Amino acid sequence: AARAYHDKVIDHYENPRNVGSMDKNDKNVGTGLVGAPACGDVMKLQIRVNNDGEIVETAFKTFGCGSAIASSSLATEWVKGMNVDDARKIKNSDIAKELSLPPVKLHCSMLAEDAIKAAIANLKEKRTEAGAQN
Ligand code: FES
Repeated sequence: AARAYHDKVIDHYENPRNVGSMDKNDKNVGTGLVGAPACGDVMKLQIRVNNDGEIVETAFKTFGCGSAIASSSLATEWVKGMNVDDARKIKNSDIAKELSLPPVKLHCSMLAEDAIKAAIANLKEKRTEAGAQN
């Protein structure tokens, strides 16, 4: 029988990287919380940046399907060490390709792209607010 999932999906699903949570009130932490309207799955992805805007730590919690968990695991691995401007350029199609997701599972990788963007947006918001208080 054909494998329903590619090995890389299984690996990220069984051994997800960077599962966890960071303090969302930390000024260096950006939190992205997104949901997929199609299935109701939810993903929380967090990034911690240093003063140079480099992502030094990541965490995620995904309440969703195996492909969504694998997508968020891969995304947190990819963005670690990246500048936020580069992280924002990650496309769901890159994630889907790396994991060999079938078309029906594309929205799962979309969740990861959205979550990265939401986390970066949250961080920028915080920084703007912090700047306004100075
Ligand atoms: Fe909806 Fe995977 S089935 S995120």
